[in-house]
Amino acid sequence: MLNIQEYISNNKDRFLSELIELLKIPSISADSAFSQDVIDTAQAVKVALQEAGCDSVEICETDGYPIIYGEKIIDPTLPTILVYGHYDVQPPDPIELWHSPPFEPVIKATPLHPEGAIFARGSCDDKGQMYMHVKALELMVNTNRLPCNVKFMIEGEEEVGSNNLAIFVAENREKLANDIILISDTSMIANDVPSITTGLRGLSYVEVQVTGPNRDLHSGLYGGAVANPINILTKMIASLHDENNHITIPEFYDKVEELSTEERAEMAKAPFSLDKYKKALDIEAVYGEKNYSTNERNAVRPTLDVNGIWGGYTGEGAKTVIASKAYAKISMRLVPHQDWREITELFKTHFERIAPKCIKVKVTPYHGGQGYVTPIDTVAYQAAAKAYETTFGKTPIPQRTGGSIPIVSLFEKELGSKTILMGFGLDSDAIHSPNEHFGVWNYLKGIETIPYFYEYFTEMNT
Ligand code: BES
Ligand code: MN
Ligand code: MN
Repeated sequence: MLNIQEYISNNKDRFLSELIELLKIPSISADSAFSQDVIDTAQAVKVALQEAGCDSVEICETDGYPIIYGEKIIDPTLPTILVYGHYDVQPPDPIELWHSPPFEPVIKATPLHPEGAIFARGSCDDKGQMYMHVKALELMVNTNRLPCNVKFMIEGEEEVGSNNLAIFVAENREKLANDIILISDTSMIANDVPSITTGLRGLSYVEVQVTGPNRDLHSGLYGGAVANPINILTKMIASLHDENNHITIPEFYDKVEELSTEERAEMAKAPFSLDKYKKALDIEAVYGEKNYSTNERNAVRPTLDVNGIWGGYTGEGAKTVIASKAYAKISMRLVPHQDWREITELFKTHFERIAPKCIKVKVTPYHGGQGYVTPIDTVAYQAAAKAYETTFGKTPIPQRTGGSIPIVSLFEKELGSKTILMGFGLDSDAIHSPNEHFGVWNYLKGIETIPYFYEYFTEMNT
């Protein structure tokens, strides 16, 4: 049997060039101008899964973008791993801040990736990380070491809320039956500090609209006498946090699970340098909820953030105007036990209640999802930890992240399965930002580590 490292070094150029081809297709799910590209990417993923050795691969149509389902069942009595990933990507804007075009991948070295990183939208989130699993399957099939059954479910709407995937999962429980779900769509602490993600935050995403007068007005003729919706909106938003950076929406914290002193102490052990953190972001000071550390603030505490705000005149030069409308997009990151639908309702009720008479307010919910935490005393976690020990020579650190993959809690509800989050990106890989990249070393390390998870998970389950 050819060993794993040998197979990777014999094939790494092709592993890279195949990923680069996939990254060239702009599969932006949020922008309908790219719908043909999203569909073309689905087709490319289908072919890749067939070539990697799946016995059957289908493109499952939905009301949105297709889901690719593939499987290789070697023996129904053996365990089954379900791999989930997404082939859609975030829009690349602001495009002028990219050093190379987002859909023309280039490999360049960076301080954290001296062996080079692939710069392209989707390189880390999630085409690159998803493709590690396709290549790991190819490796296991071609070196005769696939120890169990595998199913793949790769969707094209993760970045827009996975609404159609939720329907697909509920309608295909039998087909998707599995012993564990495996996802690479998160990050690890550092290349020499491997970690396994044990928690995700939930999300509620809303848009608010404030309407003042029925038309835009001259800010001299009417200014001072009529409510300016932008002034009012910013005031309302500012009131959503108090002086301790606590969110002021009544009942918002009712279901928030407070971490025990032991859990907080355990979290504080993860290596973290506040100085490096500030330097990397070019900030003098961090900011957040009083009495919580930076890592607590961004992983186990809920938040409320404006993601975009607009209205009035934003073009060149000055225009004196009082806009008729002002808008903002707001996300709330939630922790386990907070129900995203309930939180969305609480937000709506509160925001309408604090609106002064002089304006009208409209709250439109977009999407949301539950948070997720997974225990570490499970066979699956132990198998994953052992896989990292084998390839990194270090025991991985369990770590909760602030990001969200809302479908994970739904998998647990609909399929009764736990998820293992083996992410190989770094937080500094600029996902959703200009110049997103993914380390070549990380890509290959993922391909190397995944087969060990299959091996240990199967051993521990049979
Ligand atoms: N892969 C990310 C989530 C992620 C990244 C979690 C890094 C942990 C570490 C995923 O594609 C994503 O961006 N999720 C969205 C939510 C979704 C509903 C749009 C998010 O977290 O904003
Ligand atoms: Mn992702
Ligand atoms: Mn994303």
